[in-house]
Amino acid sequence: MNVNSQNVSSNRKPKTFNNLERFVEGWYWVIPSKNLREGEVKPITILGRELVIYRGEDRRVIIFDAYCPHMGAHLAEGKVEGNELRCFFHHWKFDAEGICVDIPCLDEPLSTKLKVWPTAEKYETIWIWTGEIPQLPLPYIPELEQKECDVTFASRLVTNCHPNVVMINVIDAQHFNSVHKLPLKIDFEKYELNQNAIIFNNITPISGDSFFIKLISRFYKNAITYSICYWYGSTGMVTFGPDFLHLHFMISLRLIEEGKAEIMTLLMIKKRRGILGRLYNHFVLWLAKILGKKFIKGDTKLFQTIQFDLKTPIKADRSIIQFINHLERQKPLMWKSWQLARSQDVESMQNRDRWRDERTND
Ligand code: FES
Ligand SMILES: [Fe+2]
Repeated sequence: MNVNSQNVSSNRKPKTFNNLERFVEGWYWVIPSKNLREGEVKPITILGRELVIYRGEDRRVIIFDAYCPHMGAHLAEGKVEGNELRCFFHHWKFDAEGICVDIPCLDEPLSTKLKVWPTAEKYETIWIWTGEIPQLPLPYIPELEQKECDVTFASRLVTNCHPNVVMINVIDAQHFNSVHKLPLKIDFEKYELNQNAIIFNNITPISGDSFFIKLISRFYKNAITYSICYWYGSTGMVTFGPDFLHLHFMISLRLIEEGKAEIMTLLMIKKRRGILGRLYNHFVLWLAKILGKKFIKGDTKLFQTIQFDLKTPIKADRSIIQFINHLERQKPLMWKSWQLARSQDVESMQNRDRWRDERTND
């Protein structure tokens, strides 16, 4: 895959964007919460790193590095005992902090410790933080920060291109007309929420004479409600819909082998009380799932064959350039090892030349 644009000078080349060996330190989805019952232990591979996940009887989710520090057995072969995990091979036991608490043939366990990774559960999904201490919260939609939601899983798929390339599709203004046949002019305004989150809001008022425009304009006051909040360059929280009914979807990606992307999408809507409220939300989520599948057909075809190379950016690509610049300023880790990417890259991260083009004004 051609990672960078050939006609952009080398000091302006993105180092993290579309790089099949790098990802940004952050929160990443692991598995749906319902796929890990109390007392269950499973092997998982996230961003190239082999891990083991289990749920103790206190219902807490624990994630360790996969291999036993004694002789390298995979700990997913082991057994959950209370809130602890016992290795299958020689029965060494580790507590939820990764500390070895029992070696059956010794009176005292050795002071050996497993690597434990921070975890969280939200949106009916288990998440992992890929560094030592979580620096920022789980991805959230600012307008839903303190609110409860109803959630439904929409799809899971693997694409042939890098997660970053999938992510920018949602702010690719031109393709709404060409691929999705929407007779709308989309123009985004960006706002950096924090070091790892950036929001793009559509600011284009509705105009036009088509039947579609006339129909939807009944439900909107000003501009079409369409905004996306990107977290860690890998999870996008999208809000759209008429003013009275905001619907949200989350598209969350992980980099897998050969620079491909593993995608999970889920739909969210603000919780409504009572039977009618629940039925209403159920119906809206069901409808959104069907429409969403139809909507992304053109995109999924594109993701299988694209060789991303933004050789000729134009003004309409401005948001994409802004996304790349924001991504480049985040902390890069290496796929598989989760080590910090080369130090000289990190040192210059804050002062790095922006990957810019005068035609995009960024
Ligand atoms: S390999 Fe795990 S206890 Fe020996
Ligand atoms: Fe699209």
